[in-house]
Formats: sequence, C-alpha cells, structure tokens
Amino acid sequence: MVTIETDTAATAVSHPADFANIDRSMTTPKRIYLDNAATSWPKPESVYAAVDHYQRRIGTSPSRSVYAEAVQADRTIHAARAALSRLIDGEGPDRIAFALNGTDALNLAIHGTVRPGDHVVTSVVDHNSVLRPLRWLEDKGTIEVTRVECDSEGIVDPDEFRAAFRPNTRLAALVHASNVTGALQPVAEVGRIAREHGALFLVDAAQSLGHVAISVREMGIDLLAAPGHKGLLGPLGTGLLYIAPGVEDRLESVRQGGTGSRSDEDRQPDQTPDKYEPGNLNAMGIFGLKAGIEYVADRTVEAIRRHAVEMTRRLREGLSAIPGLRVYGPRDPQKLVGVVSITLDGYSPQELAAILDASFRVQVRAGIHCAPLMHRALGTLDSGGTVRFSLGPFTSTDEIDAAIDAVQAVSTVESRK
Ligand SMILES: Cc1ncc(COP(=O)(O)O)c(C=O)c1O
Repeated sequence: MVTIETDTAATAVSHPADFANIDRSMTTPKRIYLDNAATSWPKPESVYAAVDHYQRRIGTSPSRSVYAEAVQADRTIHAARAALSRLIDGEGPDRIAFALNGTDALNLAIHGTVRPGDHVVTSVVDHNSVLRPLRWLEDKGTIEVTRVECDSEGIVDPDEFRAAFRPNTRLAALVHASNVTGALQPVAEVGRIAREHGALFLVDAAQSLGHVAISVREMGIDLLAAPGHKGLLGPLGTGLLYIAPGVEDRLESVRQGGTGSRSDEDRQPDQTPDKYEPGNLNAMGIFGLKAGIEYVADRTVEAIRRHAVEMTRRLREGLSAIPGLRVYGPRDPQKLVGVVSITLDGYSPQELAAILDASFRVQVRAGIHCAPLMHRALGTLDSGGTVRFSLGPFTSTDEIDAAIDAVQAVSTVESRK
C-alpha cells in the first residue's frame, strides 16, 4: 500500500497487486515527463550551459558594479529583457520587470493596481495565482470582484465580460490558456472591451508564452504576467511582468529596496523596471532564461505551436478511444495549448497518476490544478479533479503513444471494471 500526499487529499493506492495482469512488455524504463504545465523539462542544453556559465564564470551581483563580470551580467540581463520584449511584441526592454515566478508577477500586477473601492473582473477559468490575491482583497473589504462563467468547453464569452464592467472597474484579469483544459481564451476581444471601459487589462500567460504567438499591442494587454520556467524553458525561480507604456503611473511598487540606481535617494525610483525590482535579481536564472527564450525564438513559436497541435491531437484522439475515459475541454486542438485533462472510471486521479508513474514512468499531475472554479465548472471539484497531461516542445510521438498505451493498459484491469 502506498500513500500519496497531494494538495487535494492523501490517497491510498493499492498496487502493484491490482495491476499484476497488465502486460508489462510494453512498459518502458525511460522517464516520460508530461508535466510541462507545472514546469518544463527537459530544458535545451544551452539553458544548462548558461546557468553553469553564470555560476562558474560570472557569479556577481548585477546592476551594482563596474568590473568586467558585473558589466557582462548587466548586458546579459538587458539582452534577456530585449529578447522577451521582442517575443511579445512589447515596447522595449525596460518594460520587462523580472519576478520570482508567474505568481509573483501576478501579485505585483494585482496589488500594485487596485485601490479601495475598486471593482475587478476575472473569470472562473483563472488560476489561484489570480483568484487568491483577488479573494484576499475582497475578504478585507478593499475591492469587489466579478467572476465570469465559461461555456461547456471551458471558454469565456467576451460579451459576459462586457456585461460585468462597472464604472469603477479598475482591472480585468484573464488567463490566456487554462492550465486545466488547455482552452485558449479570447484575450484580444476582452482587451478591446477593457480599453473601451478605461480599465487595465492583465493577462496571465503562464500556459501560453512560448507556446502561442502573443502581441501585447494587438491584444490590448497592459500587463502580461508569466513564469520563465514553463514555455520559455528557463529555470525555476524566474518570472516576468510586462508593463505597457504609461501603466507604470497606475502600478505601484509592492516591495521597496535597493536597486543599484538612484542610490542617493531613500525613495523607490519610479522608472521601470527598477521601480519593481528591489533587491538582487536571480541573475543565474535569468542567464538560463535568456538561453531558453533564444531557443524558442530560433525554433520559432509558430513551429513549436505546430508541434504542440499535432501532439495534442494525437494524445486527445488516442485517449478518447479508451472506454470509461472522459477528456475535458475543447476537441479542436487549434483551440488548445498542449494540455489534456482526463478522468478514468474506477480510479481517482491521484491513483491513476501514481500507477502511471510507478508502472510505466509516465509522469503527469493529478488533482485540483490550482483552479478550483474551473474544476467546479467541469464538475470535477468534488471528485478529486483530473489527471493532466501537459506537453512540451521536446515531447515525441513515441512518448504520446506510450502514454496512451499506459492508460489503455490500466483501463483494462479486470478488478476495476
Ligand atoms: C495558469 C497559471 N497561472 C499562474 C501560474 C503560476 O505560475 P508559477 O508556478 O510560476 O508561480 C500557473 C502555474 O502553474 C498557471 O498554470
């Protein structure tokens, strides 16, 4: 008996006895990592090399000194900002503030913009990294929040967003792609609506940046928050917030401290990005992140997207053919990033995920994927959530087929039918 601790429940899983009749000849000892929505792995070799280079050869605090290695660190960090700005069609390197992760960037965007008496519109599709800061402010009586519902495919209707706006709506916050279903959301339409209402538009690009083309200008995005460690293929501990020109006047800093600039003043500088980057940056992580962004830019987002659509179609179709299995979210892979959530009759999500790893080395995430309102809309909140497969740019057809075969094998265990 194995007990698995997850964020939803401790689940008792009995194996391998239950699975003695699975044909293990098709199992593979190779690790099949399909948890790229949590963090991407493997990274390009250049990412490992960049982190190693920083640690061994640079090893300095950036933006604070003039010796050769410090200058090289400054240049590389500036180049990372420039590469990010190009990737999202932004308006220059200084509009990128580095953060600890996607959650940190979202917290800055939310806590930095809203004021007492404001109203915020978000959606049930959003992640707890948006929902929880908003709920916290709401519970304190600081703001009011409207959470727009989604349709049966897990996609929000821009007209429902439009209807939710009020004269005091300061901020609209929407996830670009659901981390539960993979469903892409109509961000450009909601961006237009937010602009018409004079509200700031915040997009959570945690599951889209590096996977689908983004133009912050064409999509009317004022604030774009993302981790560096998912689709951008950087190390954990990296994230970013894009701040459109002029938005810094409406975005307060939420932490203050040394920046290496204007050090004669005891007041936080008000230019971007220094205003939002007190303390030493994760230079090692940003070196790796720059290499990850360069990999994405060289391979091109369009090519990565084509690969993801092909892999997602293969996985979705293969899984859908398994009796007793339900796939959530849109059928059309063009409406999805590489995320596929399922449930299988006879198994809790935790149990299925544990078996997939223990018996087949297929590594997926199970449970409520930090998006409780999305699970409530799907009807999976009270039944332990889903098993989520999430693909990356290095996922191969062999891995997809091995994952499908593994789920197929588990589904045929007689004792569970
Ligand atoms: C949609 C979405 N938003 C935000 C986050 C938070 O990102 P991070 O883990 O970098 O804080 C995640 C991560 O799982 C996510 O999937």
